[in-house]
Amino acid sequence: MKKNVRKIVNYKAEGRKIAALTAYDYPSAKFIDEAGIDIILVGDSAANVVLGYDTTTKITINEMLIFTAAVSRGAKSALIVGDMPFLTYNISIDKAIENAGKFIQAGADAVKIEGGSEYIIELTKRLTETGIPVMAHLGFTPQYVNTIGGNRVQGKDFETTLKILEAAKKLENAGAFSIVLEMMPEESARFISMNLSVPTIGIGAGADCDGQILVLNDLIGKFDDFSPKFARKYFDTKKMITDVANRYIEDVRSGSFPNNKESFQLSSEERCKLENYTQTR
Ligand code: KIV
Repeated sequence: MKKNVRKIVNYKAEGRKIAALTAYDYPSAKFIDEAGIDIILVGDSAANVVLGYDTTTKITINEMLIFTAAVSRGAKSALIVGDMPFLTYNISIDKAIENAGKFIQAGADAVKIEGGSEYIIELTKRLTETGIPVMAHLGFTPQYVNTIGGNRVQGKDFETTLKILEAAKKLENAGAFSIVLEMMPEESARFISMNLSVPTIGIGAGADCDGQILVLNDLIGKFDDFSPKFARKYFDTKKMITDVANRYIEDVRSGSFPNNKESFQLSSEERCKLENYTQTR
């Protein structure tokens, strides 16, 4: 059965941990959905791990919408969250609602927006009122990497943790149905999670968040430009692809591919005609 935001919020009350992953294409979404994943985030991490950009700020809304539509065709049960890319929600509330609507029309059930400023809190309220559920994102927020000054762990002391909690509470009151906490000390993330009624979804934020999210391509070893400390690698897709490519190259060069079974054959009658024609010339 299709999961909705109410179900995701209830998981926290039930003490059931939420398992979330990113995906960007139809087959991956289908496979992780069939495996039982709760949330699929069509993350703007696609910028790095699919499109090869050096930063997430370079991906466009049109690229994100293509990935979102593909994921929504593959996933039948998971809640699908479209990650709004840089500058598609920061300029004005009206433009942000229009762009968020494009994600819903492409098949997302909710959108994710980064940050905890008064503007983002107001936007969360307006999107929720419009019927577009919002996943918030605090702690390290990659779209602000240039102002943060690099990939830095956030909430490293009491004061900054309290500030993040304050923003989280405001986002919760504005209607956010969950909050991603990225790159924070586990104690800080635990403290924030304990003081919210909506679930926190951690990434590099320790085991005590209400759920966890990772980038699928990190999990399956399909991206090796950089590898965050918090990403657990379950499989080596790079090795699998290079091994298969090496074997294929060898088979083509040695002439062992394709074999008879992998080729089409003429009937014996037609083959004879070809052979006779060749002999009489
Ligand atoms: O874009 C992304 O993949 C994210 C993370 C939270 C996984 O925002």
